[in-house]
Amino acid sequence: MRISVIGCGYLGAVHAACMAKLGHDVVGIDVDERKVLELSSGRAPFFEPGLEALLKEVQATGRLTFTTEMSSARGNAVHFICVGTPQKKGENGADLTYVNSSIDELLPYLSPRDLVVGKSTVPVGTAARLSQLVIDAQPAADLLWNPEFLREGHAVSDTLHPDRLVYGVSSGSEDDRAVDVLDEVYAGLLGTGTPRLVTDLPTAELVKTAANSFLATKISFINAMAELCDAAGADVTLLADAIGMDDRIGRKFLNAGIGFGGGCLPKDIRAFMARAGELGADQALTFLREVDAINMRRRSRVVEIARELCGGSLMGQRITVLGAAFKPESDDVRDSPALSVAAQLQLQGATVTVTDPEALANAARRFPELHYERSAEKALQRADAILLLTEWQEYRNLDPYETAALVSTPRILDGRNILDSSKWRAAGWTYRGLGRP
Ligand code: UGA
Repeated sequence: MRISVIGCGYLGAVHAACMAKLGHDVVGIDVDERKVLELSSGRAPFFEPGLEALLKEVQATGRLTFTTEMSSARGNAVHFICVGTPQKKGENGADLTYVNSSIDELLPYLSPRDLVVGKSTVPVGTAARLSQLVIDAQPAADLLWNPEFLREGHAVSDTLHPDRLVYGVSSGSEDDRAVDVLDEVYAGLLGTGTPRLVTDLPTAELVKTAANSFLATKISFINAMAELCDAAGADVTLLADAIGMDDRIGRKFLNAGIGFGGGCLPKDIRAFMARAGELGADQALTFLREVDAINMRRRSRVVEIARELCGGSLMGQRITVLGAAFKPESDDVRDSPALSVAAQLQLQGATVTVTDPEALANAARRFPELHYERSAEKALQRADAILLLTEWQEYRNLDPYETAALVSTPRILDGRNILDSSKWRAAGWTYRGLGRP
């Protein structure tokens, strides 16, 4: 099929490459010329495992091109909307500027029977409004909402092997022509048994925000338990293992630490609260305010423990922060708890050196005042304390004896509770976890 993918960020670039991998003829459209140039030459404009190899593979077939020209959407049967919906400045709500402008620009190029497929995360009610715009411009065209659940760092495999596909259609019925069209696009995935659910438009939009809210709640729940474990002298990692063995609870997303960040969970729960307020249902989501508050409290708690670790004052302390990305296997630093902690430590008088295998360029753009060092070994030299804040494999693998030989004082704060505390203590380290005795 001939497909347009509008917006070539973390979601769109991966989606475009994966649709070409499924055998379709795809054009990726983005307003950012630099991004289009990079993608056109087979380079990923951000770090995502497997993406660059996939881009090269599908570009060699001639089935994937990138352009800044919206007119290239003309003649394609399906148009995916994959643009970002960031948080509005100074407000909780989502900024729909990019969604609105991409639809406005696409409308003149729609042909009868085209299908517009929304993938961006939007406040419930947006799809119905956009659907009307599509029908007004081209009465025989249609809009379907198909939320995306991919995780950064696993984006390619999540797109090619999703847990489920959700189709929101205006009729809410399986017999909708839009369902048949999207089934054809995803034939390769449906053929391998991927479950597919057909809903109405608002349900499909809500599935996405509900899923991210649930994940955020799970993380804040275990972080609240970490606060209690700290107060009671208990161990939150063992607690998570034990409750996670109950199938109804499950162990995934129960890793206590410095909290969640990134371009999705934090802004999605805030946009969800804002939208609930507009709908007069704000009471239903007041718990998300607490989820957000618990999450933000983690960052101050880490700074507090770092101060304790440094003997009561951060002034003049040389602190090495391992990890800047909001999670491993990503170079994304949007709302990264690791960077936010690093910046607070520096503000409070510490000399902070940040290292990360992939995210330093993005980090330096956001916080130019911090020191950055690509080599972890160099970054660790003469440190008065280490903070492990993003659990990259190379930090998990650190040897406590070799590391002790590099630093000035063997003190470590394990912000992700991933190190074997007894091993580190045996090597002479003062070890602090979060919610661990
Ligand atoms: C999240 C969702 O997991 C995806 O399903 C969704 O499609 C995506 O948002 C989106 O809306 O686009 P992502 O932001 O890539 O994906 O990252 P996650 O893997 O969910 O991690 C989010 C944050 O939670 C990270 O900072 C991570 O370190 C933290 N986290 C995760 C914990 O602190 N503890 C855990 O147990 C798990």
